Amino acid sequence: MPVKAIEWINGKVRILDQTKLPTEVVYVDIDNPGDLGEAIRSLRVRGAPAIGIAGAFGIVLGIQNFQGNDVPGFLHEVDRVARELMKTRPTAVNLFWALERMKRVARQQSHLGVEGLKNRLLREAQTVLEEDREVCHRIGKHGARLLQDNSAVLTHCNAGALATGGFGTALGVVYAAVEEGKRIRVYVDETRPLLQGARLTTWELMQAGIDVTLISDNAAAFVLKQGRIDAIIVGADRIARNGDVANKIGTYNLAVLAEKHGIPFYVAAPLSSFDFSIQSGDQIPIEERAPEEITEGFGQRIAPPGVQVYSPAFDVTPHQLVRAIITEEGIIEPPFEENIAKLEKQLIHTQNSDDDLWEVTR
Ligand code: MRU
Repeated sequence: MPVKAIEWINGKVRILDQTKLPTEVVYVDIDNPGDLGEAIRSLRVRGAPAIGIAGAFGIVLGIQNFQGNDVPGFLHEVDRVARELMKTRPTAVNLFWALERMKRVARQQSHLGVEGLKNRLLREAQTVLEEDREVCHRIGKHGARLLQDNSAVLTHCNAGALATGGFGTALGVVYAAVEEGKRIRVYVDETRPLLQGARLTTWELMQAGIDVTLISDNAAAFVLKQGRIDAIIVGADRIARNGDVANKIGTYNLAVLAEKHGIPFYVAAPLSSFDFSIQSGDQIPIEERAPEEITEGFGQRIAPPGVQVYSPAFDVTPHQLVRAIITEEGIIEPPFEENIAKLEKQLIHTQNSDDDLWEVTR
């Protein structure tokens, strides 16, 4: 079983500190929402589904010491903690999705009183985690159909166990195909500037015994031209109604290259990564990171002091370049706008017949 990025243990959130990988495997136990927010901001816990899960547990940490039986005061505190956590990272919609889900459950179950609500919210956060595990498996199973025996896959960043509550989305497809007995080779982009591919994806795949080859980001075009790759599979931080996909900076480069070389470009993502409130990728907020992540990557000064830097952490791949989006409900193909709308209808229908559940919009 691949590594666990996040767990709830004895009233604390245990995360595998991803800033230390691959040289050190360090777990950190977090008992307050401030430290959890720091862990999200600094990418100790990262990847869209994992930060959604972290956010849900952040609410639990924020209210577990609430004293007294003032329910409106308690709900106010839930909202306050959620607002703070929402400030940590703007792009992955899963964080907002999970926090809204926790707030909604708190409001809907207010008759339980403060102690009852504390238990209920803990259960909800655990459900968010367990569902994600299950969702990864379903994504993996659907996606594995797209891979033949002896295929080579190129991926970017880390959309694996380290980024989710299960075995990943893009890497989930690889794990599921391997479980089915297919021989799969994975090429991994190093993923500048923070090297999630080089540091995290290679480490995770090697732990799982998968055949993995690291390439520099700059090598991707040549590797595709050489015919080494059968499919590109990436994760997503936010998907708009028209199928535009925000993911780690550099993803768009790969999608353009995929089209040029006639290689299918797939996105694997849970429904919690869809933002049904936005029509296109132009509306996706793109996080900008500190210049030092480029000029002093990993403690080593590599650019002149005072140089101007622009560091978007994500880009948006236009839907025209996406061959298909692999979700837990199946594979969505173009026309995306029409097919995503159908999926949304289906979701609203399922949720209306299930009281206590989340809604699609945020
Ligand atoms: O900045 P990060 O490391 O959080 O970026 C992560 C990604 O871009 C992932 O590809 C995405 O969140 C999908 S994870 C299943």
